[in-house]
Amino acid sequence: MDRVLITGVGGFIGSHIARRFLQEGYAVTGVDDFSSGRAENVPPGVDFIEGDLAMRATISKIPSDCRKILHLAGQSSGEISFDDPVADLQKNTVSTLNLIQYGIEHAAERFLYASSMSVYGAVEDAPVGESLECHPLSCYGVGKYASEGYLRIYQKKLPPVILRMFNVYGPGQDLSNLRQGMVSIFLAQALSNGRIEVKGGLERFRDIIYIEDVVESWFRAATLETAKGRTLNVGTGVKTTVGTLLQRICELVPGATYFVHGGTPGDQSGIYADISALQDVLGVTAFTTLGDGLERFTTWARTQPAFQ
Ligand SMILES: NC(=O)c1ccc[n+]([C@@H]2O[C@H](COP(=O)([O-])OP(=O)(O)OC[C@H]3O[C@@H](n4cnc5c(N)ncnc54)[C@H](O)[C@@H]3O)[C@@H](O)[C@H]2O)c1
Repeated sequence: MDRVLITGVGGFIGSHIARRFLQEGYAVTGVDDFSSGRAENVPPGVDFIEGDLAMRATISKIPSDCRKILHLAGQSSGEISFDDPVADLQKNTVSTLNLIQYGIEHAAERFLYASSMSVYGAVEDAPVGESLECHPLSCYGVGKYASEGYLRIYQKKLPPVILRMFNVYGPGQDLSNLRQGMVSIFLAQALSNGRIEVKGGLERFRDIIYIEDVVESWFRAATLETAKGRTLNVGTGVKTTVGTLLQRICELVPGATYFVHGGTPGDQSGIYADISALQDVLGVTAFTTLGDGLERFTTWARTQPAFQ
């Protein structure tokens, strides 16, 4: 079985995807610098390299036989990207360029990139298709879009699959980071003190996708020939308002309440995905409902030491 390279393997999404590839019998090389991820997230069986992918020294440690590159490492918060935009560029975009060079040099078969709905910026209240012109509002979004651009420049030498993920949630998400991940931020606050601080209006809306559905999409994108060269939204196509999300969380965590306080720089007011390409190209058509996903996430969160 081929060897795959999965970056960000100590993080939320990368660790789940690595587990799936190991289950399918692939050899997995994983890289992480633990800037936000954790060593205990790295699944047993991964050949692990610790290091920052913005550094050539880390790239030189990667074995030459990784046939597929799945690049998920990165600073993953729009809000945090404003703290130090240069560091964000290094972590998210220089790392992508370094890995593109690695992929070309070793004739990798494809490069999957963890892009984001943030590339779109402010949009109308309608499903967003991949052909929409992008105007990112955060340094994070600009960096993600730049990475996409570099991948397109080199696409003849290294076929890309760009996966623009919407709001991903589920077990394994970092509940101690209250600046990344809308669902995990709300749930962590509900479980810790029952008071959820909401930075922005309740009428904002999102497309919230459960981690298992994201893993399925990535696995298909990495293995189906038809995925090569495509840019695909990874969402459910369902529009959920922040108010609805909060109500669901408060139902699962009795006694929890929420209040609106301020806003977040670079936040998109409302966005949800047109998923026709995801359905046509990858055949992903069934999704975990928000109710089921939140129940599983909450059950898992209650097993975590901070909330026991
Ligand atoms: N979670 C979401 O809803 C979402 C949505 C869209 C896109 N994404 C993107 O998907 C990817 C994974 O997101 P996540 O939620 O798992 O985030 P995460 O923070 O849990 O995981 C990212 C991992 O990358 C590592 N990392 C960061 N910069 C690195 C570098 N330069 N070299 C090596 N390792 C580095 C971190 O330590 C962390 O373990 C990120 O690129 C993120 O921007 C996430």
